Amino acid sequence: MKIAVLKEGEGETRVAAIPETVKKFAGLGATIAVETGAGDKASIGNAEFEAAGASIGSRAEALKDADIILTVTGPDPVTLTGAKKGALLIGALDPARRGKDIDAYAKAGLEALAMEWMPRITRAQSMDILSSQSNLAGYKAVVDAASVFGRAYPMMMTAAGTVHPAKAFVMGVGVAGLQAIATARRLGAQVSATDVRSATREQIQSLGAKPIFVEGVAGIEGEGKGGYASETSAEYQAAQAELVSGHIAKQDIVITTALIPGRPAPRLISDAQLATMRPGSVIVDLAAEAGGNVEGCVAGETVERHGVKIIGAVQLSRTLAADASALFARNLANFLTAFWDQEKGAAILPDDDEIVAAIRLTKGGKLVNERLKPAQ
Ligand code: NAI
Repeated sequence: MKIAVLKEGEGETRVAAIPETVKKFAGLGATIAVETGAGDKASIGNAEFEAAGASIGSRAEALKDADIILTVTGPDPVTLTGAKKGALLIGALDPARRGKDIDAYAKAGLEALAMEWMPRITRAQSMDILSSQSNLAGYKAVVDAASVFGRAYPMMMTAAGTVHPAKAFVMGVGVAGLQAIATARRLGAQVSATDVRSATREQIQSLGAKPIFVEGVAGIEGEGKGGYASETSAEYQAAQAELVSGHIAKQDIVITTALIPGRPAPRLISDAQLATMRPGSVIVDLAAEAGGNVEGCVAGETVERHGVKIIGAVQLSRTLAADASALFARNLANFLTAFWDQEKGAAILPDDDEIVAAIRLTKGGKLVNERLKPAQ
């Protein structure tokens, strides 16, 4: 079994394997071919991969006879010429937005597996790239906010007077939000947080932050399938807007992370609410790519409105390339190891397995995933 590790395209800093996972694959009996320079942006040189047991070569050399191709973001299909029919292509393939490329993977006979469609079940936790990357993004959002905030986070008692602690508010307490709360607390901010899922209240408290929740509105539970949020009622949205209006004017740092799968991000902060904030406040919108939680947010840019800086954060984990690669690579290795058949010396992916059915996009030249079918 040969495993190829690709060098990523423009804009991507991460790499889909690290020396530790190369050793793990070698221990399973696989041979590993890393495309030259694949780890450069994540501070892993060719020599480190070689020392772990990989061979280094061109894209064509890596792909030749490879049974498994590991990638972070889905490569342009034309760059996979020479890949073996039936080879597994595993990574964050972004099927919701890259329909044409997924079709091309199918035509090339590749078996494409989209790791972001991993089901949120206990067995798959260690394979969940959304969690591993969101966790880092939550941390980095708080650090990025600190770097443009003209004040300090912690309280400081100095001979020249007291510096008051910053007030940070986290909206959306999933994986990224929880890490944002923990990071802002570590930096000394006074932290509050909100979510539509009532289960998060205790999680917020356990991190030492103050929960801010809509109370007394009937039928508002935003708990959807698989632990995700669902869309809330108009009544809930009005109550939430009122709650936010009262709270936000007193905040210095706001981190928004609210997402609803398959829908545009919910609008949580209006322009009128922004106008009530103190000039110099900073908002990091981690939902920027999904349309943004904040009115006026621009994905990939920092804009200023009413004296408030709004950072439209995109793929923040890329700015932590070494750690993001390590976690991503381990997610891939955990997935392959779970399905590895020692006797056959190969990854065996049963059609009726819940994980396989959720993430497999193409097989035998066809689109096979239920979620892709309406688009055909
Ligand atoms: P996400 O990225 O889809 O959404 C972020 C947060 O925004 C969620 O907590 C959501 O409830 C919240 N949100 C949505 N609409 C909102 C609104 N209008 N106002 C305020 N907040 C709003 O969520 P993520 O981080 O992917 O996690 C979702 C859940 O899945 C969590 O409970 C997490 O613990 C669970 N999970 C389970 C895993 C497993 O069992 N394998 C792995 C990862 C997460």
